[in-house]
Parts: sequence; structure tokens; C-alpha cells
Amino acid sequence: MNPSAQRLIDGKREHLLPCLYHFYADPPVLVRGEMQYLFDDRGRRYADFYAGVTVMNAGHGNPAITGPALEQARQLQHTTSIYLTAPMIELGRALAAALGHGLTRSFFVNSGTEANEGALLLARLHTKRRGFLALRGGLHGRSHLTMSVTGIDLWRTDPFPSPDVRLAPRPHCAACELGRTFGSCGFACLEVVERLLAENGDVAAFIAEPIQGNGGIIVPPPGYLQGLRALLDRRGVLLILDEIQTGFGRTGAPFRFHALGVVPDIVCLAKALGNGFPIGAFCTNERVAASHTRPGASTTGGNPVSATAALQVLDYHRTRRLAERAGTLGHRLRQRLAALAERFPADCHELRGDGLMLGLELRRDGLALARETDRVLEAMKDSGFLIGKTGLDRNVLSFMPPLVTGEADIDACTDALDRCLASCLGSAAPRTGASA
Ligand SMILES: Cc1ncc(COP(=O)(O)O)c(C=O)c1O
Repeated sequence: MNPSAQRLIDGKREHLLPCLYHFYADPPVLVRGEMQYLFDDRGRRYADFYAGVTVMNAGHGNPAITGPALEQARQLQHTTSIYLTAPMIELGRALAAALGHGLTRSFFVNSGTEANEGALLLARLHTKRRGFLALRGGLHGRSHLTMSVTGIDLWRTDPFPSPDVRLAPRPHCAACELGRTFGSCGFACLEVVERLLAENGDVAAFIAEPIQGNGGIIVPPPGYLQGLRALLDRRGVLLILDEIQTGFGRTGAPFRFHALGVVPDIVCLAKALGNGFPIGAFCTNERVAASHTRPGASTTGGNPVSATAALQVLDYHRTRRLAERAGTLGHRLRQRLAALAERFPADCHELRGDGLMLGLELRRDGLALARETDRVLEAMKDSGFLIGKTGLDRNVLSFMPPLVTGEADIDACTDALDRCLASCLGSAAPRTGASA
């Protein structure tokens, strides 16, 4: 192993909490980023196909974003929200325009966890109810409440999750928890939601990712979210969409809810909003916002530097039409992955996702190929490509590059994947298992 990597791993073991895992047995030490590429301390270039978990949608070190943000840091770095500064307010205005559909009011925080936590609080304030529904297989954060609405065992670390949360079946038709077949099921999973709502009269909101990211790139079937919205409306329950992964062009539309035609009461954003600068937000309409009048503040949420970066992010996405680009490039990546999957039919179980949010599940004889997924990740890294892994069994190869990636990168990545699958799956032994 690279001695500098070994030194860092030793330091990590000594000084960080042992819960912090990293990818790769032989990890590169990353020292520089330039748009869709990362570089290690030996000058080796990697095409990034994970974008720091869909954060760097507008590219690493994009000067159109870092330039104004660094200038803002030189001028005025921090005051907090008890003083008037322009960037956070301008960002609120720009975000309202980007979201549309009456989602005109925002509260800025530092992370996705905080955005979801704030959205859950807002739902309680608005409805005066305390309970929540969420989906199995969803991921919403690390605080007590956001971890309680997280439906992935691996990330539900809290031994005492909130008793106010009920989990509903995840709409994953290829592996339907209820054993039904899409088309003839009559949305049996929504019937469960209806039952949960009837049994728990105190539900304030349903929180869901429009596509489950960490859960394995799970796309609900057409009509699911529309049906859910109608169910919730009948009982005055709010819909919170967690667009922390799907937002900012990732799936081929500026926000996933735009493509679905389902408008949430509250939408949660983070990750690509700051393109590497820490910022999150929960955004809502006038009616729901009016319920949050007690004093609220976040010391560094929406600080001038992150807010300036986010303003540039919105401008860059709009002027470069990154969502459209994700749609076009995603189509190319999907076609090439589909062709690959056909070459390895015994192991490539399902290809799914939309835009540049794609997952290829590895499974043989019904069993998850978790260890082989790790091997493929390692071999891809050695070939110069950083891809991701997701899924309840950590057996889904995940492709979420910066939206500024190129056709040549996509072609090179899938060519490399062809070679890596051939070498890593040849002796595949089916196993299950789950590691971060
Ligand atoms: C969909 C989703 N929601 C919330 C979070 C939590 O965000 P953060 O790590 O910024 O707190 C994540 C993190 O990966 C996520 O993927």
C-alpha cells in the first residue's frame, strides 16, 4: 500500500471514531479535483463517477463557483442570521424561481440531515401532529429523528429510534416485499400506507426520496408518488420529498418532482446545492411556512460563503442546462450498461435509475454479490474510475458522475467495467453481507 495512505489510515484508526469506513483495500490519497476528474498524491487521474455521493454535480473546483465564493470569503465570511447580509436572501429568491410550484420559502442549514430534521419539525408545527411515515430502504440522516425515519438497517445505528415513526413497504417492484406483480397488484404497497394512516391518526408527514439513493437506486413505479400524494391529501398529511440526492439535475430534470408532476409540501435539499460548500435547505409554500413563526436560527446555515457558492451553482446549472445534459448523457450511459449487463446475465440482476443516477445490481442465483461488488470497485479504481456502491446488501454498482462529465468518460468507464466484470465475476461465489 501507498505509505501516505497507510499513514492516513493509521491516523484515522487512532483519532477518528471507528464508525468511519472508507472505500477500497488500497485507497488512493486524493489531493486535487478538476471538473469530472480527481487526482491522487502520485499524480494519477481518476474519472469520478460518484461525485462525492452526488455533491459535485457542477464539477470539482469549478472556477465559476469557487471564484465568487472565495472572493466572498475575503470580503465577509460570517455574521449569522441576526444580521442582514445579501447572499442568503438572494439565494432564497433564486431557489424559489428554480423550484417553482409555489415553493417560495426556504430555511438554510448546513447539511442534509439538518434539512430533513427541520422539515419534520415544520410538519409537526403545521399539522399539530407528531407521527411520521417513511419508506423501508430510505436514508434521511444521522440525527435522532432523521435516523428514525431512515429505513436501512445499516444506517439505523440509534438503538432507541423514535416511537413516532412507522415504516411502509418500499416501492421496489422487482423485489416486491408483498410478493405482488406490478400491473396486477393494484398498488398493494399504497394500501399498506392507507392502513397505517387509518391506524395512526396522529401522522404529520410522509417523508420519501423520489428515487432511493443509498437504498440501491430504487425507482418507484409510475403512479406511486401520485397515488401517495392523493392518499395523504385526503388525511391532511404533508408530503416531504428528500431531493438531497435527486435534486440539481441528477435525474435529468432540475428536480425529480418536476418530472413526476407531484408537488411536495416541503422539499429538502443539500449536497449539490453547495457543490462542495456545506449548505442545506428545506423549502415550502406560503401556507406551511406561516406555521413557523417562533424564533429559529442556524449559526452558520446559509452563511455568506456557502450561499454565494449556491447562487453560482443555480446560475451554472441554468445557463449550462446541466439537467438536460444529465438526461442525454444518462441515456448513453444506460445504453452501454444495458449492453454490458447482457454480456453477464448470470450476475447483472437489474439496471435501474434515471438520468445520471444509475445502479447495476449484482446478484447470482438470487443471492447478493457483495464481496464481488467490492472487487469490481477496487478493479475500477485501479483502472482510473471511481464508481459507487449502494443497496441494502451493498451489491449495487452506482454511477453518479458530475453532470459535466463527457461522452468519452462514459465510454471509457463502461469499457473498463466490461474488463473488470470479466475478471471479478469469473469466479463469483454468491454471498450476502452488508458493509459500508
Ligand atoms: C437522500 C439523503 N438524505 C439525507 C442525507 C443526509 O445528508 P448529510 O450527510 O448531508 O447530513 C443523505 C446522505 O447521504 C442522503 O443521501
